[in-house]
Amino acid sequence: MSKYITTPIYYVNGEAHIGHAYTTFIADSMARYEKLKGEDAYFLTGTDEHGQKIEESAQKNSKPTQEFADEISASFKNLWDEFEISYDKFIRTTDNDHKIGVQKAFEVMYNKGDIYKDFYEGHYCVSCETFFTEMQLVDGEFCPDCGRSTNIIKEESYFFRLSKYEDALLKHYSDNPDFIMPRSRANEVINFVKGGLRDLSVTRTSFTWGVKMPESIKDDKHVMYVWLDALMNYITALGYGTTEENMRYWPASVQFVGKDILRFHAIYWPAFLMSLDLPLPKHIGAHGWWTRDGEKMSKSKGNVISPKQVADAYGVENLRYFMLREVPFGQDGDFSQRAFIDRINSELSNDLGNLLNRIIGMSGKYSDFEIDSVDVLKYHKKELDAMNVVLDSLDTFMQNFQTHRYLEELWKLFSIGNKAIEEHAPWVKMKENRKDEALATVALVANILAKASIMLHPIMPRTTNIIADALNFNIDNSSYKELVLEKKLLKLFNIKVVPPLFPRVEEPLMPEAPLAQPNATKESAQEVEKCSREQDNLIEIGQFFETSLKVGLIVAAEEVPKSKKLLKLQVDLGEESPRQVVAGIREFYSAESLINTQVCVVANLKPAKLMGMVSEGMLLAAKDEDGLCLIRPEKPKKVGASIG
Ligand code: MSP
Repeated sequence: MSKYITTPIYYVNGEAHIGHAYTTFIADSMARYEKLKGEDAYFLTGTDEHGQKIEESAQKNSKPTQEFADEISASFKNLWDEFEISYDKFIRTTDNDHKIGVQKAFEVMYNKGDIYKDFYEGHYCVSCETFFTEMQLVDGEFCPDCGRSTNIIKEESYFFRLSKYEDALLKHYSDNPDFIMPRSRANEVINFVKGGLRDLSVTRTSFTWGVKMPESIKDDKHVMYVWLDALMNYITALGYGTTEENMRYWPASVQFVGKDILRFHAIYWPAFLMSLDLPLPKHIGAHGWWTRDGEKMSKSKGNVISPKQVADAYGVENLRYFMLREVPFGQDGDFSQRAFIDRINSELSNDLGNLLNRIIGMSGKYSDFEIDSVDVLKYHKKELDAMNVVLDSLDTFMQNFQTHRYLEELWKLFSIGNKAIEEHAPWVKMKENRKDEALATVALVANILAKASIMLHPIMPRTTNIIADALNFNIDNSSYKELVLEKKLLKLFNIKVVPPLFPRVEEPLMPEAPLAQPNATKESAQEVEKCSREQDNLIEIGQFFETSLKVGLIVAAEEVPKSKKLLKLQVDLGEESPRQVVAGIREFYSAESLINTQVCVVANLKPAKLMGMVSEGMLLAAKDEDGLCLIRPEKPKKVGASIG
């Protein structure tokens, strides 16, 4: 059976960061694992290059959009090549075949009646390339996903009948409980669909950097919505709409994505596929996010970790091991050099590296580097049995993408080896003239290392090839079959001396403070630019005082039913009666916690209606990537006191 494994395609608006590396490492390990097992596996990655966001990034960098996309796309590809990522295809959404495939898909859905033309009016977030309803916005303006300000766009648009697929999607989730993995992530998707799906706007007329409409539809002012374009990459890469040459790999066995883009992959994507009459992927594997030293990474904080920088300092194999060992699949993970160094020193250097060094040393002394498995079964049946139990348990973890459990189990093999050396003390046996026994223990450990390296190969391909070379065999499907499945032992061989594979790390190898990033410089340049733009935007003091800001006391607060974002507040501003203020702060404050607290209120805003409720003011708040906080007087002030 063929296997098809994909990563998301990465936006070309900035260099790769550690989150991109993580998805790529998981997918690469999975693809390598399947290939090792002899499966016909195909591994796809690539770059997502269309849309307003990319067009704007290119403009900011004063480059033609295609040239900008070419450069960043190449930087991803070069990095993955340097990291020896074993992709079978690197797709770019600016590839001609991809564009033809997307047009073909659009045509099929249109001819089926699943795409129709209408008007769209809504709030659009350029950064997320997504429309939001008024109800979804924070404070009537800001994107609920990234917090940036949205623009109102009214345009003619083609719509995909997403609503038509609501029931079919719900049925699919319930018939296939492992469609979304880990299962714990499925509920958020199911609830979203149950909340009702609106038809999806799938074209734009407000910019041109996108895939053109199919010839047959003849509507040149539209370009495709970037998510429609991007999601189709998973089939156009196989030749959908062009050569069809690799379509036998469809449906994908697993599509890895970060939790932030699960909705696109678990709702829109399957609905598109249903419309195209194509089968759905077996699994959408949603992983968590990485933070740095407990903090969310962001360009503005300058704490984004560049995978290249980490790999240059610690080695890419160590990084792969750390990331895949540290975090249970689906959960968020934290990158700290301390945790990384601990794993290198204790697990890689002590448990694995030393074990290899010990048998190289002993076999050199006792048998001129010759290792013979002839007596292993006789003296070490107990260890062989224990080893086989571990080997047999591993596949399940990998099938569930639980690389951390896989590695944890795999490490039991090194404990068996280290313990056997301690217990059987070959140096004592040599003194007692029991050379056969001493050599059997050395050979047992050589076999443990051989089998463990085969299973570790998908995670640490380079290092395990070095170990295999020292043990005089190649890691491939036939050694996997013989040594792992058929439980055979190594044939007589001479072990090679190799330098220590995992030198201990005593001190952090990268600065602890935010790293100097190429991006950070760009970002600060943008900030300077922003400041200078403010200079052009100066107002008179009188204009400022046109806004009436007052201290208010929240006297009552309640949640707005059916809204995840809104709270309905009664705020005393020293007037006859408290004012009703509807604020999009429910994600950050509970209603109870606000009662009897002071806030700053914009008091002379025209009343507005939010979800049918009148709002007679606005609370001042600050928002960044860590969330939102209200701006309050430093000390309690009289209600109604003016702020200025
Ligand atoms: N272009 C879209 C995907 C389209 S797929 C048809 C996109 N690109 S992205 O470059 O912004 O993100 C790519 C992946 O990186 C996503 O899966 C996202 O979850 C992941 N990560 C981005 N930051 C991350 C962390 N800090 N930690 C882990 N992964 C994160 O979305």
